[in-house]
Amino acid sequence: MDFSAISTEQLPQLLLDMPKAELHIHIEGSLQPEMIFQLAQKNGITLSYPDVASLRAAYAFTDLQSFLDLYYAGASVLLTESDFYDMTMAYLQGAVADHVVHAELFFDPQTHTERGVPIEYVFNGLHRACQDAKARWGISTHLIMCFLRHLSEESAFETLEAALPHRHLFMGVGLDSGERGNPPEKFARVFAKCKALGLRLVAHAGEEGPASYIENALDILHVERIDHGVRCVESDALVQRLVSSQVPLTVCPLSNIKLCVFKTMQQHNLPALLSAGLNVTVNSDDPAYFGGSVNVNFTELFKAHPGLGAKEAWQLAKNSIDSSFVSQDQKNQWLAQLNDFFTAAVAVQ
Ligand code: ADE
Ligand code: ZN
Repeated sequence: MDFSAISTEQLPQLLLDMPKAELHIHIEGSLQPEMIFQLAQKNGITLSYPDVASLRAAYAFTDLQSFLDLYYAGASVLLTESDFYDMTMAYLQGAVADHVVHAELFFDPQTHTERGVPIEYVFNGLHRACQDAKARWGISTHLIMCFLRHLSEESAFETLEAALPHRHLFMGVGLDSGERGNPPEKFARVFAKCKALGLRLVAHAGEEGPASYIENALDILHVERIDHGVRCVESDALVQRLVSSQVPLTVCPLSNIKLCVFKTMQQHNLPALLSAGLNVTVNSDDPAYFGGSVNVNFTELFKAHPGLGAKEAWQLAKNSIDSSFVSQDQKNQWLAQLNDFFTAAVAVQ
C-alpha cells in the first residue's frame, strides 16, 4: 500500500472512520457524570457532589489511586440489571460511531458484589446489552472479567467461583485496580486456575508499576496481552522480548496523561514503541473520566506527534484486530475491510 499517497489533510478523518478494535475499556469507566446522577436519583443514592458540574470538576487526578477513589464512588450507583444494561448500551452506541467493529470490555464484579449487588445482575445486564448492540448495530464484543488486585487472593477465588455459572458469557480474565504494592504474583494461583478453565488471560502491568511487573505478568501469570505496559522501556531486555514475542500492549494515551504517567501527550512513548516494532494498540481505558473515546485518543495522539501518519494509523488499527481474541477467520475479514478502507483512501488522490 502506498501510504505516502495519503495527504496529511485526509488523516484526521481516516483516524475516525477506519475500522478498529478496542481492547482496553473498563465498562464502569464509561459511565458519564450525567448517567451517574440519573442512576443515583433513580436508586436513592446520595453522592458527595451536588451536581454534574462539581463532579466533573473533581476529575483532576494526580495518580492512579486518586482516580480509582472517584471511579469506585461513581460505580456505586449501579444497582439493577437494567443499570448495567443501560451503561453498556451507551458505551457500545458510541463505539459504533467510532467505527469500532469489536470491543473487549473489562468489568469489575467485586466493585458490585461487595455492595451486595448479585453477580448475575452484572453478567445479565452486560450480556443482554452486547446481544442487543450486535443485533442493532452489528458490533462484536467479548467480556473480560477483572479481579481487583488491591483485594485478596481469597476474594479473587470467591469471585471466580461465583462467576463460573456464567462461564459461557466471558472470554477471559484480567487484573486491574491499584498496581503499586500489588504485584502479579499475588494472583499466580488464581490465574493458573483460570488458564486451566480455558480462559484467555490479560493483566494491567507497567502503568504505575515497574517493568518487573510486566515480566512477572508474562512469566508467572502467563498472560497473552499486557494492559498499558508503557514502563517496559525501563528494561532493554524486556523491550527486545516484547518485539520478538509480539505480545500486545493495550496502551491508553489520554489515561496516561490524566493519571500523570506522562506529563504531556508530546512526551508519550507510544510512537517510540511503535517504531521500535512493539505490538501496541490505542484504547480509551475509562473514556468518561479521561477525556474521550478511542477516537479522541487517536486524534489527540496524532495531533501531538506529527511524525505519525497514515502508515502508523493503519498499523495501529491492524494491531488492534490482530491482538483481539476473535477467530483468525474473523480477523481476516476485518483486516480485509481495513485494507479496502486504506486502498480507497489512496485512490482518492
Ligand atoms: N480500573 C479502571 N481503570 C484502571 C486503570 N487505568 N488502571 C488500573 N485499574 C483500573
Ligand atoms: Zn485499564
